Amino acid sequence: MCGIVGYVGARPALGIIVEGLRRLEYRGYDSAGVAVLGKDSGASPDEGLDLITVKRAGKLGNLEQELAAQAPESAINTGTTGIGHTRWATHGSPTDRNAHPHRSRNGRLAIIHNGIIENFAALRAELEAAGVEFVSETDTECAAHLLEQELANVRAELAAGTAPAALADSRAEQLAEAMRRMCRRLEGAFTLLAVDADTPDAVVGARRNSPLVVGRSEGENFLASDVSAFIAHTREAIELGQDQVVLITPHAVHITTFDGTPTEGKQFHIDWDAAAAEKGGFDYFMLKEIAEQPRAVADTLRGRLSPTGELMMDETRLTEAELRSVDKVFIVACGTAYHAGLVAKYAIEHWTRLPCEVELASEFRYRDPVLDSSTLVVAISQSGETMDTLMALRHARAQKARVLAICNTHGSSIPRESDAVLYTHAGPEIAVASTKAFLTQLVACYLVGLYLAQARGVKFADEVRAVLDQLQQMPGAVDQVLETMDAVRALARDLASSRSVLFIGRHVGYPVALEGALKLKELAYMHAEGFAAGELKHGPIALIEQGTPVVCIVPSPVGKDSLHDKVVSNIQEVRARGARTIVIAEVGDTSVRPYADHLIEVPATPTLLAPLVTTVPLQVLACEIATARGHDVDQPRNLAKSVTVE
Ligand code: F6R
Repeated sequence: MCGIVGYVGARPALGIIVEGLRRLEYRGYDSAGVAVLGKDSGASPDEGLDLITVKRAGKLGNLEQELAAQAPESAINTGTTGIGHTRWATHGSPTDRNAHPHRSRNGRLAIIHNGIIENFAALRAELEAAGVEFVSETDTECAAHLLEQELANVRAELAAGTAPAALADSRAEQLAEAMRRMCRRLEGAFTLLAVDADTPDAVVGARRNSPLVVGRSEGENFLASDVSAFIAHTREAIELGQDQVVLITPHAVHITTFDGTPTEGKQFHIDWDAAAAEKGGFDYFMLKEIAEQPRAVADTLRGRLSPTGELMMDETRLTEAELRSVDKVFIVACGTAYHAGLVAKYAIEHWTRLPCEVELASEFRYRDPVLDSSTLVVAISQSGETMDTLMALRHARAQKARVLAICNTHGSSIPRESDAVLYTHAGPEIAVASTKAFLTQLVACYLVGLYLAQARGVKFADEVRAVLDQLQQMPGAVDQVLETMDAVRALARDLASSRSVLFIGRHVGYPVALEGALKLKELAYMHAEGFAAGELKHGPIALIEQGTPVVCIVPSPVGKDSLHDKVVSNIQEVRARGARTIVIAEVGDTSVRPYADHLIEVPATPTLLAPLVTTVPLQVLACEIATARGHDVDQPRNLAKSVTVE
């Protein structure tokens, strides 16, 4: 939900910022803009800096076109301090005028924002009453004007000798103090970055409930929504805590809380490189990320056993006794991550014999779930910033429940606020539609199930080991699926003009059906629905017309016999009503052949682990149908990668 980047150093800022925005464009692509502090080549040495802003509605490409028209020696191309923004619209439609950065009234300050300022109506009324004229419909513009006011207050107090003396020598510290004062007045979720034309070589940032990381390097520093924006320049980063303000200059990073107490962020080293965030020869990030799944699954499994054979989390602030006292598990997540949770329920209940409920994070706290200190809440999130999931987590913790996060983004809010963390090692997921993150979330869920079973003593170490061995086979199995996708691609082109596609499955095949339908909806903008196969006859079967494509996820015939046979009966039922059946079944499962108009075979897997292979053809199908319909699969309309609003 909006990508932001800031740079201060010795190099021209613009190229670095635009490159960072390109990597953050997955967070929103309604508009993009930059602000740079610079000086035209003809300006005299005594003249101060100018603040140059350029912004355009639409994707980053529109902004780049505009920037290409600027003279190479102009201030925007030579300035060494700047900020940039790519927007997912909340307040105000996606127009040039509402694009960020927003300038303050005197035109000397520019600010960019990710999040929602919830008390903006009151603040705007107050500012308007004081004579400020707004030029946009955004909540962000309030912050620009407020920051100007607070900076003027700080400087007036300094002139009057009533401000802390420590501020006197540094205009940059004055700007940071103004930011702190303003943040104390804001409610809601926000990451803000600001530059001031009268404060050279400084970018100030703030964060509450929205992500912000610092990139540290020799003679230059960076700020961004996530590390992919600066990974090409440095792999040393600092994660900012809640309610903190950061000031970067070329040679320093100063962090304080909103009340001005100095503090240090958590330093970390980024263990993937810039190439991981590039398309690597694929037409789309989504294609690359689908192809990366075998490696991502293997990486998530790597190093999970301690030398004494115990399963390990990445961070745990839970004691053995607390884990043993767990008597109920809730899983909270959204979208694709929710579907991973639905699969996890089958594994967790089967392996631990604990009741496990899966909830849409956005609904969780509104129904007042029964939680206490013996409840374990598992929060699943690729980005670690999904506001619905974060709020569910906070609600759970307020009720004394323990929270374990499954997350792909190091240092993001969800793991930071949890009692234990298991990181998925999918690497950066840039395409808006989640693929490799889903498979690694499944792996992490299986590990959590085994971890709980081990901690509670309901599975012996050799039983845990046996499942782990099966999991170790899965990267190879996913690889085999990927090798056979040409037929799926051909089928996709054939289905591209369909009006609607239905998906059915039972047991763990049901969440896979939901996931297949979600992928098709979000990428191809087609009607698609997933159903529990047994539920069809209770109503949805009426949707089936002659030729309606129905994708059927068939469980292994060597698993639970009755399950397999029931799904085969359901396939016959839809076919009898004219459906065109696309059957995903285990290789060698001859029983489905008579009822399959198209058969997609996947390698044999244990029943519970099957989603790791059956999901992959559905990802490819959705991606290809969307491409055949002419859509940009990396940036589907109306969506953003990281949903930091409720
Ligand atoms: C769908 C998709 C979304 C996300 C959901 C949760 O392809 O990507 O449904 O799964 O927005 O996002 P995270 O996992 O970041 O919390």
